Amino acid sequence: MYEVWLLPTPTLLQGSGFRVLLLHRTRTSRRLGSSCSVEGKLNRSGITYMASSVPVKEESQQHLGCSVTGDSFIRHHLRKLSPYQPILPFEILSTRLGRKPEDIVKLDANENPYGPPPEVLEALGSMRFPYIYPDPESRSLRAALAEDSGIESEYILAGCGADELIDLIMRCVLDPGDKIVDCPPTFTMYEFDAAVNAALVIKVSRKSDFSLDVERIADVVEQERPKCIFLTSPNNPDGSIINDETLLKILALPVLVVLDEAYIEFSGIESRMSWVKKYENLIVLRTFSKRAGLAGLRVGYGAFPLSIIEYLWRAKQPYNVSVAAEISACAALKNPVYLENIKVALVQERERLFKLLREVPFLNPYPSYSNFILCEVTSGMDAKKLKEDLAKMAVMIRHYNNKELSGYVRVSVGKPEHTDALMECLKSLY
Ligand SMILES: Cc1ncc(COP(=O)(O)O)c(C=O)c1O
Repeated sequence: MYEVWLLPTPTLLQGSGFRVLLLHRTRTSRRLGSSCSVEGKLNRSGITYMASSVPVKEESQQHLGCSVTGDSFIRHHLRKLSPYQPILPFEILSTRLGRKPEDIVKLDANENPYGPPPEVLEALGSMRFPYIYPDPESRSLRAALAEDSGIESEYILAGCGADELIDLIMRCVLDPGDKIVDCPPTFTMYEFDAAVNAALVIKVSRKSDFSLDVERIADVVEQERPKCIFLTSPNNPDGSIINDETLLKILALPVLVVLDEAYIEFSGIESRMSWVKKYENLIVLRTFSKRAGLAGLRVGYGAFPLSIIEYLWRAKQPYNVSVAAEISACAALKNPVYLENIKVALVQERERLFKLLREVPFLNPYPSYSNFILCEVTSGMDAKKLKEDLAKMAVMIRHYNNKELSGYVRVSVGKPEHTDALMECLKSLY
């Protein structure tokens, strides 16, 4: 089961007046919402081409002479881009709820509630050269990462979060109209960045147990010749992991595999960073946001085959990792005992949270290898309303009511007191 989204290209926009998308066999799993219902017609390869119901402005503002508007300068494919839906900033949230930030139980963005080791704040406080541009090659950080990961620094490139690296990879790999494979439900930045980069997204939905549909992926790679596939292990939002056998099958396909290991530390399995030395079509991404409590400082990194990394060096912004970000990440790596302890604390708390969520009559939690737990919302309870009811009690969780995942909530693992507060609020609802 897969579907292809043709994100608007200039030709499509001007010609049809509609965004065009391709759909192939819709899945019937109960956990998915209904698929696009607009009629389409079959092409040679049996893929249905469909028009979405999003009308596109036909006229070009450039004809309007002096009344030209700014959006006429914007690239065609970006004019209909839906903005990424970020979560509400912490301070704004606390003002809205009329509560102090420290009284909010924030379990909606998979952040690490323990924050970084004390060395990070010390290093930031004694930063000597904030007025000098950072090292464009993040040499200190890459040397520290080489020691941390066991792979030489020449394979490593750092970025302003893993998010920056996802976009950088796409900018280096994709021409407008090229295709990527996305396996929803998953991290939505792959789809978002593909739209920004004028790429087409082929969606191969996960099976009902959230495992990858490897046979369909192989079919799609053969038929559609996508440039790359984005895989996530553990996957956000369900927390499932990809085993070696599955990964090897996908690596054998003629496609660039981007393996996002943002949550790998919580999984108990080894990172595949070193595999990039063997597989020319593998990139592995990681981040300090989750493992080191540095989400606010924005530091991610990736391991790349040497034949690929040289192009990322050429295309990246020279000062993409700030002085503060590099200092913080290096300081965090200096205290591996702290990093290990907070990981163990979160993994233990995940198991306690899972057992407690299982006792809630309207929740069906999924076992997770990550620092969050996905729950199906059952017994007639509405996922959105559940999220809103908890938010009124200053407990923030994430809900899913979209085409790919409907009637689910995701709860990040916090400290034990966060679990207790969540459970108390949930109990007040039954
Ligand atoms: C799967 C996945 N990859 C990457 C990221 C972003 O990482 P970073 O904070 O390093 O940009 C997230 C953030 O939630 C994520 O869930």
